[in-house]
Amino acid sequence: MKRRFLEKAYLLGRVEPSMLTLGIESSCDETSASVVGDDLRVHSNVVFSQISQHQAYGGVVPEIASRCHVEAIPEVIGTALQEAGAEWSDLKQIAVTQGPGLASSLLIGTHTATALSQRLEIPLVDVNHLAGHVYSLFLNRRKPTAEELPMLILLVSGGHTLLLSLDERGELEQLGTTLDDAAGEALDKGAKLMGLGYPGGPIIESMAETASGEMIRLASRQRLKATRRTGALNPDFCFSFSGLKTALLYHLKDHPEDGAESRIPNLCAGYQEDVVQYLLDPVRRVLKSRSFKTLGCVGGVARNRRLRAGLEGVAQKAELPLILTDTEFCTDNAAMIASAAICGAGIPREAGLLWKDVKPNWPLGQILG
Ligand code: KG4
Ligand code: ZN
Repeated sequence: MKRRFLEKAYLLGRVEPSMLTLGIESSCDETSASVVGDDLRVHSNVVFSQISQHQAYGGVVPEIASRCHVEAIPEVIGTALQEAGAEWSDLKQIAVTQGPGLASSLLIGTHTATALSQRLEIPLVDVNHLAGHVYSLFLNRRKPTAEELPMLILLVSGGHTLLLSLDERGELEQLGTTLDDAAGEALDKGAKLMGLGYPGGPIIESMAETASGEMIRLASRQRLKATRRTGALNPDFCFSFSGLKTALLYHLKDHPEDGAESRIPNLCAGYQEDVVQYLLDPVRRVLKSRSFKTLGCVGGVARNRRLRAGLEGVAQKAELPLILTDTEFCTDNAAMIASAAICGAGIPREAGLLWKDVKPNWPLGQILG
């Protein structure tokens, strides 16, 4: 099995015993373990990516994912402790992703975490993966201060696109969501339509950066209407990517020449720009209608340089400070899970409880306020 440990050692000084949280993440196709201090300093963050195992299928195969987690998790956790220079006895608690995600993948992380917490006799904290993304903002920084809240947070991952408000009491309010595909999903599906591999986001980004001449734009964002899916949410604060994906499909049918090797970079640049503008539009609208002290962006798609630049422009115009998750903590990792637990956004597991089911469809709504 090809192993890719993305992160270097974080030997950032002395490790304080009894201040360390071990984070464990296995919700999809990354097996990750991380040691994070109470001050949110990341001492280690080991990510074993399974991408190469799934690439041939154009997406994640759950059965393969769970088998890979079983194989990788002991070494990933061992390496995280080693890189942090920590002993088992230095850990004060374990934080694990309980959902949302693939049930068979989540089970590997939660069972491992349960066994470790029993053996080490330390508390276990269940964390919502989306809350983990939110709290990735503060890694290697500090917990948010009252002057930074409320913060408007754009959460953009492969499975979710949400606009959230994090308030002074640490509570999250959902302001907008996607009505169909998530932003990362739109990029992944777009790349598939263009015959470019998986995961689509980073491939489209690097292709777009080689484009010369005009980018090929596909469709401007239509104003969304209130439907059953928007529910109580303001449709102006919601997202929809299915029309854009269809526009790409028909563009490739009507203009097959744009699918040629020489034109693909321009098509990628245009498609990426459309996705970015579709994301920025609701952010601008929320900022016009409510007052925030800071703007933040988290999740795998937050790695995207074009999106980061676009958000800088929006923040500048709104005269707000912008906090972006460090690129190494945007895609799935265990440091963000530890961060959520350290910031009090996890659910402490009842002591001695040996079995707790995973929550594959755990919506953020169930842990909001
Ligand atoms: O947060 P994440 O690792 O997993 C989920 O929780 O879903 O996000 C994965 C998503 C994928 O759709 C991937 O294509 C996208 O993040 N992504 C990017 C970039 N890197 C990863 N999208 C755009 N630009 C990137 N550089
Ligand atoms: Zn994620």
